[in-house]
Amino acid sequence: MKHELIIVLDFGGQYNQLIARRVRDLNVYCEVKSYKTPIAELKAMNPSGFIFTGGPNSVYLDTSPTISKEIFEMGIPILGICYGSQLMAHVLGGKVESAEKSEYGMTSADFDTSSLLFKDIPEKSITWMSHTDRISALPEGFKAISHTDSCPIAAMENPEKGLYAVQFHPEVSHTEYGSNILRNFLYNVCRVSGDWSMKNYINTAINDVRAKVGDGKVLLALSGGVDSSVLAALLSKAIGNKLTCIFVDHGLMRKNEGDEVEEAFKSRELNFIRVNAGKRFLAKLAGVTEPETKRKIIGEEFIRVFEEEARKLGKVDFLAQGTIYPDVIESGTGDAAVIKSHHNVGGLPDHVDFKDLIEPLRLLFKDEVRRLGTELNLPDFLVWRQPFPGPGLAIRIIGDITEEKVSILQDADYIFREEIAKAGLDRSINQYFAVLTSMRSVGVMGDFRTYDYTLALRGVTTSDFMTADFARIPYDVLSRISARIVNEVSHINRIVYDITTKPPSTIEWE
Ligand code: XMP
Repeated sequence: MKHELIIVLDFGGQYNQLIARRVRDLNVYCEVKSYKTPIAELKAMNPSGFIFTGGPNSVYLDTSPTISKEIFEMGIPILGICYGSQLMAHVLGGKVESAEKSEYGMTSADFDTSSLLFKDIPEKSITWMSHTDRISALPEGFKAISHTDSCPIAAMENPEKGLYAVQFHPEVSHTEYGSNILRNFLYNVCRVSGDWSMKNYINTAINDVRAKVGDGKVLLALSGGVDSSVLAALLSKAIGNKLTCIFVDHGLMRKNEGDEVEEAFKSRELNFIRVNAGKRFLAKLAGVTEPETKRKIIGEEFIRVFEEEARKLGKVDFLAQGTIYPDVIESGTGDAAVIKSHHNVGGLPDHVDFKDLIEPLRLLFKDEVRRLGTELNLPDFLVWRQPFPGPGLAIRIIGDITEEKVSILQDADYIFREEIAKAGLDRSINQYFAVLTSMRSVGVMGDFRTYDYTLALRGVTTSDFMTADFARIPYDVLSRISARIVNEVSHINRIVYDITTKPPSTIEWE
């Protein structure tokens, strides 16, 4: 792919992905590379600029990540952020010291708006800081272009060499003009034209896939999740019937979901195979109560079913994988081949013979994958699908799983989701679902005593699913949901709402 390129050089900061996303949001393609990448390799990628990320260390420790002076002499613009800014100062002969007081959080800063970096922003605004060390003496040829009350050099520049550094984090939304500052770096300093767009990406990806596949056959395990669905749509457009998708329906999806996935792909040009394996999964799960055992059984069975179907197709040439960029970055350097497990539950099939992998989403972030899905006319319910665990409802039924419990949970969960959507909360609550507990309690319906299940509702807001808060669903919405579920679904006579955060709880109950 021939795009303008910005390289984010990762020194171990927590925002490396965020920086890359911000740059792409500004229509410039961007990759994250480790600071250990050889300079010659970086040069060969022909970047328009570098951004050095923050990092957890002090530049003076022996173990701290560093970089050769050579990179500053390549004539390619560099923006250092936080640790990256201190490193620039340190390597080029300036001084970095530990400040008496750490600066953390929102901090008002003054800007020299005659600098290209701060062009067209106000002279004073809020930045987001997170540091103890700070630059105390400028390297030769540099001048300070921003300061705060406790940080005299909050930014510096050497415009002749295209070198810029900021102590604060322009990539986080708390920095008021962060996006303008990044834009200035890209368009005024690196002088890019901004040639990264989803439409462009589709065309390039399609050409690349066609060139690689030729007359070969491609196999894809379609789960109905966002990544595999978008991948199927993209490959269908690129290679049509050379693509075969196997959709293993384990019977533990949400209500109607299997049919909806089939419906979404039936009209596209591709071979779509749906395997209704619900009975088979239930048989394997009979009497199993331990969550990790459930996961393991489902993962293994999924692979077996997939392999059996794949074997019927004879030899395939390529296996398509919905690996996306965060998977690649999380592997460390962005170079190692990460193979995302199918469906997030199993691993790669052992007994499918193929010569190579195809991973056209490998360079995209999740929000870009969704944009791509929309460009490819996938329905919203697939593009905006909330995360759904590979083992499905099996881990939302506490204790042993029976066909009846699956059906009770599907019906209750459906009503919950329907009412959340009606209340207009479906995009603001990041994940929400019902859990069928194994607890039964006494209730009264009409004139009869009941002894039925307690259903738990869970709704969370989160940006990364590592931590989460419970969603503040209004009482009247909860009330409608509760009334409908107990009236419309048999065997549920009590409903509770989960009001714990993660940690200490997890999002799922199992
Ligand atoms: P927890 O429950 O660990 O969940 O707070 C965090 C996120 O991961 C999802 N999750 C899973 N996804 N296979 C998956 O593919 C699993 O076994 C699994 N367990 C949890 C969960 O839905 C949430 O989004």
